[in-house]
Amino acid sequence: MAKRASTDSPAARAVALRRLLNHHNYRYHVLDTPEIPDAEYDRLFDELASLESEHPQLVTADSPTQRVGAEPLAQFDTVVHTVPMLSLDKTTDEKGVADWMARCRSRLDGADVEFTCEPKIDGVAVALLYEAGRLVLAATRGDGQRGEDITANVRTIKSVPLLIEADDVPARFEVRGEVYMARRDFESFNERARENGGKPLINPRNGAAGSLRQLDPRLTAERPLTMFCYSLGWTEGEWQPQTHMEVMRRFERWQFRTNPEVRLVRNESECMAYLEALAARRDSLGYDIDGAVIKVNALAQQAELGAVTRKPRWALAFKYPAEEATTVVNDVEFQVGRTGAITPVARLDPVFVGGVTVSNATLHNMDEIGRLDLHIGDTVMVRRAGDVIPQVVSVVADKRPKGAEAVALPEACPVCGSPVVRPEDEAVARCSGGANVCAAQRKEGLRHFASRLALDIEGLGDKIIDALVERDLVRIPADIFRLDHDTLANLPRMAAKSADNLLAAIERSRNTTLPRLIYALGIREVGEATALALAQHFGTVDNLRSASEEALIDVPDVGPIVARRIREYFEVEENVAALVALVESGVAYEPIEVVVGERPLQGQTWVLTGTLESLTRNDAKARLTALGAKVAGSVSKKTSQVVAGPGAGSKLEKATELSIPVMDEAAFVRFLEAHE
Ligand code: IVH
Repeated sequence: MAKRASTDSPAARAVALRRLLNHHNYRYHVLDTPEIPDAEYDRLFDELASLESEHPQLVTADSPTQRVGAEPLAQFDTVVHTVPMLSLDKTTDEKGVADWMARCRSRLDGADVEFTCEPKIDGVAVALLYEAGRLVLAATRGDGQRGEDITANVRTIKSVPLLIEADDVPARFEVRGEVYMARRDFESFNERARENGGKPLINPRNGAAGSLRQLDPRLTAERPLTMFCYSLGWTEGEWQPQTHMEVMRRFERWQFRTNPEVRLVRNESECMAYLEALAARRDSLGYDIDGAVIKVNALAQQAELGAVTRKPRWALAFKYPAEEATTVVNDVEFQVGRTGAITPVARLDPVFVGGVTVSNATLHNMDEIGRLDLHIGDTVMVRRAGDVIPQVVSVVADKRPKGAEAVALPEACPVCGSPVVRPEDEAVARCSGGANVCAAQRKEGLRHFASRLALDIEGLGDKIIDALVERDLVRIPADIFRLDHDTLANLPRMAAKSADNLLAAIERSRNTTLPRLIYALGIREVGEATALALAQHFGTVDNLRSASEEALIDVPDVGPIVARRIREYFEVEENVAALVALVESGVAYEPIEVVVGERPLQGQTWVLTGTLESLTRNDAKARLTALGAKVAGSVSKKTSQVVAGPGAGSKLEKATELSIPVMDEAAFVRFLEAHE
């Protein structure tokens, strides 16, 4: 551990701080297992930064403070690769793998050959040159012979070491790998872009490529990039590795990030098993892959096999189905949600993408249609990756048929015919009919009412709700509790047994909790966390119903907009009548004893980001709300505290930028324990 600042000379303290920060940076960005709360990291970082500003001669190129801040470039310089950066031969089937393995063996005169398998990352290939352990150059692949000097941008990637401190580092060597954007980071980047009227990224690969192409490194620094290192370009010095696996182990020791999925396989059947298992986990890896790379493990054998036409004979790409495909938009339909929100959905010529056949894709809202300039009949690029619903990402403009019609927002709701309205400051258009008039809103409202976090009526699924609403057997939630056996048993695809089960589930849901009931009402902007806060503040539905806007704003997690929505909800006579009917139908809850007096986090706003392992996000929110805090979705100057689990991205960066205190999960758990 570093000694305290007071006893160290500034120079010694700067060295110690750099070491410490580099270590914690590595724990966080490479191993994904931070040891200290972020606030502590920030404190150390600030200490180093102020030391360096007092003593500028102490600044070193590898200081963690030097990752950002380089001046914008006029253009990128060209870099000639010492050893060309090759591309890969590919196959899509088992025979291709078997033939390639057989060719490797026969070219090596029948020698034993071991292979490795690893994911083929869908990012941007980058070469890193290290001299005396320092990163001195980073370059793109370019045409394989010449790339571009993107050193200033790559320095901003926190998982790329600026300095390797080990006694076995060769004098000069080049590490190659793939820079990419994790899916979660990509999604949250786009979510923010859509909210702020910015331009969303098409896919994570474009996101990574575009970020590396910024002439201003400060822009690159704002993009959540990371890098997996997968091969040694060349080396000058002592180290003569024997195998690909040895290279990977050494990279890890030198604190590069390598892919944890790299495996040795001895034969075709082990290889196929790997490829199948990886394909099955493709959606859950957290980053885009377009296949796997199979390599000959022994580097001497690799050298002997050599390359032809810019492709090595010692490696083979096994391609998985593409996660993007082009198809034609035959129509755009408008779906109506619970609150009347109208979402445009593209009806597509069915297309095989990401391993499934897709015939619908979301278009989010009218702004998105405008941004895409979508016309009916357009050829579009569709993306389906991970568990995210298929999206239209771009229009192939030059394939537009003559006379194609632009997509316009309908003036009337496609379900009930009520006027569609779109407030000027909102991206979302809505059906003005309300649940009383619009069957689509009724159906969605009932789905919400029966959903897991609301009354949790098991077995009351989409099809049954559709049938009940279409037959006008259920109009308001209370009607659910008046259903009888015969009515249910006579619905399509229902029988005596399933009707019994559903009735029992309905019966069970009658005894609920106040937070669930408030959430179940489906008031706009009232999610589970707000419902919980309201329940704890008001204790009964009646108190909530009679609360004024001012009284509502007093509740943690409730701002003027939410307060307005709640009032609007209770001002609608039908809503109150439906609620009264619900209570009359026997739905009951234990009233909550209202907490009086000041709560410890009253007036504070907390933000949760990244993954939490020891409790769910809902629980975390509930605990914070109970202590009086508001829990917000984004970081701003008003944020009091950020809790960041592994995988935290832009919110964490924003917090650091605004000097907002950050704690990790361990610190958060200790905090909660202290406030039990
Ligand atoms: S090894 C001789 N390993 O695939 C090339 N490449 O189509 C050796 N790629 O430009 C490359 N993941 O950008 C290798 N685990 C991996 C990879 C990988 C992605 C990319 C790389 C290369 C392209 C070739």
